Amino acid sequence: MKKFIVTVDGPAASGKQKIAKYISKKWNLSHLDSGILYRRIALIFSKNKIDLNNHRQVNDCLSKINAISYRNNKIIRTQEISNVASKIAINKLVRKKINFLQYEYVKNLNKRGFVIDGRDIGSKVFKDANLKLYIEVNVKIRAKRRYKQLIDSGEKSIYQKILKDIKLRDKTDINRKYSPLVIPKGAHIIDNNSSFNKTIKQITTIFNKYQ
Ligand code: C5P
Repeated sequence: MKKFIVTVDGPAASGKQKIAKYISKKWNLSHLDSGILYRRIALIFSKNKIDLNNHRQVNDCLSKINAISYRNNKIIRTQEISNVASKIAINKLVRKKINFLQYEYVKNLNKRGFVIDGRDIGSKVFKDANLKLYIEVNVKIRAKRRYKQLIDSGEKSIYQKILKDIKLRDKTDINRKYSPLVIPKGAHIIDNNSSFNKTIKQITTIFNKYQ
């Protein structure tokens, strides 16, 4: 049976994860946050001091990764890991491995449908998804929200640095050669600049039309 797929793409700190979690609960779909996979591999690369320019080192390290945790964790949410994840995400071999892990996850998990969030999910990984969303938020609002999130979780943080890091991650995501961040063909654009309630209303209207 073909599985029902909803994709949620958007730039860093645009609220994709929160939106995908909401959709998952409300419409009973399994949630996969592809950013977690990039963050987990970023952590492995950092620990093993993998040189991204060294093709063999990258290949060897990736080939040893058979299972990966899809769970969120504080250790992969630091600003440092965010920056490393964005750097490793330009690598073709890393993207290929992560896409493979996502296909396997969706294929093997006995669930009728999935909501998957990331940067290239509707444009590349699941091009024929049933429903595609693209989240838009002004960069300063994104930086303010991320700053608050980090402070609330106990990490030391400086707003100006967060803003600079998010702008750099946007630039890296938009300009990379493989699977750059784009609005997927056929995606519904969701304005997540104001309250979460307003965002939810837009999404519910789309889902109601679809059903
Ligand atoms: O979404 P999140 O911020 O957790 O993702 C971490 C990094 O992984 C992003 O900055 C992005 O560069 C990369 N990523 C990606 N493609 C995805 C998901 C994440 O390139 N589908």
